Amino acid sequence: MAFKLKNITAAASAVAFVAGVVIFGFMERAQAEEAGEAAAPRVDATTKKCIDCHLEQKIAVDWIRQWSLSRHGAKGVGCPACHRAQPTDADKWEHEGFLLTHVPTPRDCAKCHKREGREFEESHHAKAAQFIGSLDNFLGEVVEGSPAANLGCKQCHGSTVELEEKGIPVAGTWPNTGIGRINPDGSRGACTACHTRHIFSRRQAREPATCGRCHMGPDHPQLEIYEESKHGINFAAYRGEMALDADEWIVGETYTAAPTCATCHMSATSTVGVTHDVGARIAWTLRPVVSKRLEDWETKRAAMKNVCFECHGKTWVDNYFLMYEDAIALYNDKFGRPAAGIMTALKERGAITATPFDDKIEWTFFELWHHEGRRARMGASMMGPDFTQWHGFYEVANHFYNKFIPEAEALSPGVAATVLDMPEHRWRKGLTSEEIQEMLDFYDKRYGE
Ligand code: HEC
Ligand code: HEC
Ligand code: HEC
Ligand code: HEC
Ligand code: HEC
Ligand code: HEC
Ligand code: HEC
Ligand code: HEC
Repeated sequence: MAFKLKNITAAASAVAFVAGVVIFGFMERAQAEEAGEAAAPRVDATTKKCIDCHLEQKIAVDWIRQWSLSRHGAKGVGCPACHRAQPTDADKWEHEGFLLTHVPTPRDCAKCHKREGREFEESHHAKAAQFIGSLDNFLGEVVEGSPAANLGCKQCHGSTVELEEKGIPVAGTWPNTGIGRINPDGSRGACTACHTRHIFSRRQAREPATCGRCHMGPDHPQLEIYEESKHGINFAAYRGEMALDADEWIVGETYTAAPTCATCHMSATSTVGVTHDVGARIAWTLRPVVSKRLEDWETKRAAMKNVCFECHGKTWVDNYFLMYEDAIALYNDKFGRPAAGIMTALKERGAITATPFDDKIEWTFFELWHHEGRRARMGASMMGPDFTQWHGFYEVANHFYNKFIPEAEALSPGVAATVLDMPEHRWRKGLTSEEIQEMLDFYDKRYGE
C-alpha cells in the first residue's frame, strides 16, 4: 500500500490531541495506515475525560494507544460505548462519577455486532464453561485442587465471574478471558478470547497463534498439528502474501498461499460468508472416548469441503476425507469402544470403585482416549502425520497392549478375552504369512471401503 505522508501527519496530530500528554510514534501510525486501519480517532467528551485522567495517572496507557489505532477509535466508538452501565445492570460500578462496568461482555459488543454475537452464542465456544459434571473437572477441582483450575482449566474454558457489592470482580473468578466465561449479566463468553483489547482486530483473530492459546498441548494439539502440516508450513513461508489485514478476506480470492485455522473454521469463501460458530463446518466430535457424528453432519462436511475446493481439486479432497473417516473408524472400533467396554465390565464386577481416578487403570484409560486417542484422531483430521502416528496410534497401541489390557486382566482375569478375540487383535497369537495377508485384506474391507 502507498505511503501516505499527509494522512500520517494529520493522524499523528489527532493522536497527540487525544493523548493530551503523550505523542505516539509516527512509525506506529505509519504501520497502521499501511495496514489500512487508521483514521484520526474520534473522541467524544466522556472518552476524553477517561483518556486524559488515565494518561495522567499512567493507568492502562497502552489500552488507549491501541484504542486510538483501532477501528473503534476511527469510528468514534469511545470508552463508554463498551464500559457504560445502566443503574439496573447487575455489573454496574461507580468510577470517577461515571456508572461503568469492569467487565464488558459479548452482550455489550452485540449491541452493535448482532450477527457475530448471535453466532457466537449458539456455538460450542459459548458453552465451554459448562464442564462441571465432566471427568476433567473432577480431576482439576478435586484430584488436583481449585487454585490450579482457576489458572488452568478456567483460563481456557472460562470462569463464572463474581462481583463484590460495588461491582469490582472477585479474585479467583477474574481476570479471565476464557471462551465460555459466564458473565454477571448472564451472557456467555469473552470476545476478547480472540480479539485482544483494545485493538479488537480481525487480523489478530486470523492468526493461528490466537487459537493456539487454547488449542494446543497433549490432549488437543491443533496448533502443533497445524504447524507440522503443509498448510502451516506454507503459512510460515508465505505469510507476507496472506493479506491478513484485508477487510474482505476470501480464500481463493484475497489469498491462496495457505489456509489458517480461521480459514477452515470461520472465514469467508467465494460462496459462503464468515461465521462465528466454529462448529458450522465440523462433522465429528473427536473429544469423547468414542468419536461421535454431530447433528446435521452431512451439511457441515459439505461446508468444510467448500473451503478445500477453493484451493484443491475434487479427487484430492474426497480421497482425503475417505482416509480420515477410516482412521476415525479404526480408532473407535479397535481401541476406543473395546476399552470403554472393559472399563464398564470392571465396574460391574466390582474390580474398580465408582470414584474416578482412585484406581491406577482409570489413569491409564484416561490417557488412552483423552490424550493419545485424541491426538491420533486430531492428527488425522488436520494432516499432521506425526500426531496421527508417533504421538497418536503408536502410543494408543503401546498403552492398550502393554498397560491397559494387562492391568485389566490383573484386576479381573478374563475380562479382556472377547476383545482380544476380535480379528483386529488376533495378531498377538502369532500369524503365518497367509494369515498376515488375510489380516491386510480384512483391514481393506473393514476400513477401506
Ligand atoms: C479522574 C481520573 C479518572 C477518570 C476520569 C477515569 N478513570 Fe478509570 N481509573 C482511574 C484510576 C486512578 C484507576 C485505577 C484505580 C481504580 O481502579 O480506581 C482507574 C481504573 C479504571 C479501570 C479498572 C482497571 C482495573 O483493573 O482495576 C477501568 C475499567 C477504568 N478505569 C475505565 C475508565 C473509563 C472507561 C473511564 C471513562 C468513562 C474512566 N476510567 C475515567 C482514573 C480515572
Ligand atoms: C469495543 C469495546 C471497548 C472499548 C471501546 C473500550 N474498552 Fe476497555 N475493555 C473492554 C473489554 C472487553 C475489556 C476486558 C474485560 C474483561 O476481559 O473482562 C476492557 C477492559 C478495560 C480495562 C481494565 C483491564 C486492565 O487490563 O486493567 C481498562 C482500564 C479499560 N478497559 C479502559 C478503557 C478505556 C480508557 C477506553 C477508552 C479509551 C476503553 N477501555 C475502551 C472493551 C472496551
Ligand atoms: C490450554 C487450554 C485448556 C486447558 C488448560 C483445559 N482445557 Fe479443556 N479443552 C480445551 C479445548 C481447546 C478443548 C476442545 C478441544 C477440541 O475440540 O478438540 C477442550 C475440551 C474439554 C472438554 C470436552 C468438552 C466436550 O464438549 O466434549 C472438557 C470436559 C474439558 N476440556 C474440561 C477441562 C478441564 C476440567 C480442565 C482442567 C482440568 C481443562 N479442560 C483444561 C482447552 C483447555
Ligand atoms: C474464536 C475466535 C473469535 C471469537 C471468540 C470472536 N471472534 Fe470475531 N472474528 C474472528 C475472526 C477469525 C474474524 C475474521 C473473520 C474473517 O476472516 O474475516 C472475526 C471478525 C470479527 C468482526 C469483523 C466482521 C466480520 O464478521 O468479519 C467483528 C465485528 C467481530 N469479529 C466481532 C466479534 C464479537 C462481537 C465477538 C464476541 C461475541 C467475537 N467477534 C468473538 C474470531 C473470533
Ligand atoms: C457502539 C457500537 C460498537 C460496540 C459497542 C462495539 N463495536 Fe466493534 N465495531 C464497531 C464499528 C462501527 C466498527 C467498524 C466497522 C467498519 O469499519 O466497517 C467495529 C469494528 C469491529 C471489529 C473489526 C475490527 C477490524 O480489525 O476490522 C471487531 C473485531 C470488533 N468491532 C469487535 C468488537 C468487540 C469484541 C466489541 C465488544 C468488546 C465491540 N466490537 C463493541 C462498533 C461497535
Ligand atoms: C480461550 C480459549 C479458546 C480460544 C482462543 C479458541 N478456542 Fe476453540 N475451543 C475452546 C474450547 C474450550 C472448546 C471446547 C468447547 C466445548 O466443547 O465445551 C473449543 C472448541 C472449538 C471447536 C469445536 C467446535 C464444535 O462445535 O465441536 C473448534 C472447531 C474450535 N474451537 C476452533 C477454534 C478456532 C478456529 C479458534 C481461533 C480462531 C479458536 N477455536 C479459539 C477454546 C478456545
Ligand atoms: C485445512 C483446513 C483446516 C485448518 C487449516 C485447520 N483445521 Fe481444524 N479441522 C479441519 C477438519 C477437516 C477437521 C475435522 C472435521 C470433522 O471431523 O468433520 C477439523 C477439526 C478441528 C477441531 C475439532 C476437533 C474435535 O475435538 O472434534 C478443532 C477444535 C479444530 N479443528 C481446531 C483448529 C485449530 C485451532 C486450527 C489452527 C491451529 C485448525 N483447526 C486448522 C480443518 C482444518
Ligand atoms: C488456501 C489454500 C488451501 C486450502 C483452503 C486448503 N489447502 Fe490443502 N494444501 C494447500 C497447499 C498450498 C498445500 C501444499 C501442496 C504441496 O504439497 O505442494 C496443501 C496440502 C494439502 C494436503 C497434503 C498434505 C501433505 O502433507 O502433503 C492435504 C491432504 C490437504 N492439503 C487437504 C486439504 C483439505 C482437506 C482442505 C480443506 C479442509 C484443504 N487442504 C484446504 C492449500 C490449501
